[in-house]
Amino acid sequence: MTTDARSLRALLLASAVVLAALPACAGANEARHGDSVDVSKYPPEIQSAYRVFARRCSRCHTLARPLNAHIEDPQHWIRYVHRMRLQPGSGIDHTNADVILRFLLYYHRPKTAPDGGKP
Ligand code: HEC
Repeated sequence: MTTDARSLRALLLASAVVLAALPACAGANEARHGDSVDVSKYPPEIQSAYRVFARRCSRCHTLARPLNAHIEDPQHWIRYVHRMRLQPGSGIDHTNADVILRFLLYYHRPKTAPDGGKP
């Protein structure tokens, strides 16, 4: 075997390993790291807003997407929730959108907030 063929074979093996590992994390509804929040210490109204968020915003992608987004600008979130609401079949109406925004703005409040930001 030439060196080229050997490195090609190593490359193929490496991609086979990567592909084999993929299905383990491909399940749309599986809980993953960063995919949920312990809201037990949040104010009660934020806890109930979280439940709406968790239900509505996990339909098309995992919650990790909005949870891990490094967005602290409220305007940005208002635009996002609006955009997601307009996705076909989002099941999100104006009332839901307002509630969801309340959770997102709380969760992503700046770390410079008087209470130190995220718990
Ligand atoms: C009907 C399907 C659907 C629902 C419901 C939905 N999303 Fe999305 N979301 C998408 C799609 C499609 C994309 C990728 C395309 C895009 O960015 O517009 C996306 C992307 C995102 C991103 C990442 C954008 C980026 O630039 O990485 C965030 C953040 C997000 N969604 C937040 C939310 C929030 C918050 C909710 C609940 C209010 C929500 N999504 C509900 C379909 C949906």
